[in-house]
Amino acid sequence: MKNAVVAGGTTGMGREIALHYLRRGARVTVIGSTPSRGEQFLRDAEPLDGEASYLQADLLSVAENHRVIKEVTARHEALDALVLAAMVPFVKRRETVDGLEGAFVLYYLSRFILSYGLTDLLERGETPIITNIGATGITKGAVNWDDLQFAKKFSMVQATLSGGRANDLLAVHYLQNHPDGRTKYFGVQPPYTKSGTNHLPQPLRTVAKVSAALFAKPPAESVRDTLAVMDDQPDERLILRAVGEPVDPTLKTFDPDDAKRLYELTLPMI
Ligand SMILES: NC(=O)c1ccc[n+]([C@@H]2O[C@H](COP(=O)([O-])OP(=O)(O)OC[C@H]3O[C@@H](n4cnc5c(N)ncnc54)[C@H](OP(=O)(O)O)[C@@H]3O)[C@@H](O)[C@H]2O)c1
Repeated sequence: MKNAVVAGGTTGMGREIALHYLRRGARVTVIGSTPSRGEQFLRDAEPLDGEASYLQADLLSVAENHRVIKEVTARHEALDALVLAAMVPFVKRRETVDGLEGAFVLYYLSRFILSYGLTDLLERGETPIITNIGATGITKGAVNWDDLQFAKKFSMVQATLSGGRANDLLAVHYLQNHPDGRTKYFGVQPPYTKSGTNHLPQPLRTVAKVSAALFAKPPAESVRDTLAVMDDQPDERLILRAVGEPVDPTLKTFDPDDAKRLYELTLPMI
């Protein structure tokens, strides 16, 4: 692994994956929205062999995702891994600068734009893989087909589940649209992890941190199974794991017709 980009790489699981490849001497660009977290990441990466860079961007904006693609293309001649790990809990409906709903954008649309937009670089990589950390294998909820932006009625749980199901379909339509490519698509459901609480409002943040301290795994432990797959990739191009276990690709959540439908609905938004 020589070149990696980690969207959401300044904290939590994305940070651990980025540090893993930096320890092995890779060139790694991490993306996050909060400059102080990026600066902390660079200090943590300083003693490691690899070459770390931080790219500040708000992935809730479509234009920012396109800027990221340009900047990554200027820094990397090829990519071996694109890791998609940026997400925050959307407790209330948040409208983005593009008039879209926040969870839809950060969880799905940004991952769509980066996956498709960085394909040329990935295809030049040695063992290219897109690792999408989300909720693979969960079959609850559904893409909110009639109201993708949850404009009529917002529920944090339903919007998050809808984003997770959209990511399942992203893996499928990405491979449908790149039948002759080499890039593998790896959908991951990680274990419950002591991270992901930075953007929660109080008092929810404290409650979530206490619960995580009692029941969740440290991020470094949570990414072990994911790194094992990335470093020793199976033959199939669609790789699906939930808490380290393989997920059945024939589940309804990976329906090829739904994937095509979502791809067509997404294209006008980017
Ligand atoms: N933690 C869990 O138990 C758990 C369980 C299942 C699935 N997951 C999924 O695993 C992934 C990683 O979770 P985690 O717990 O490691 O998260 P985390 O520690 O909160 O990390 C999130 C990353 O995303 C970045 N980010 C957030 N909003 C952004 C924005 N608007 N633009 C650019 N970057 C942004 C954050 O940087 P800034 O704060 O600087 O923006 C940070 O680098 C997520 O997709 C999450 O849904 C987590």
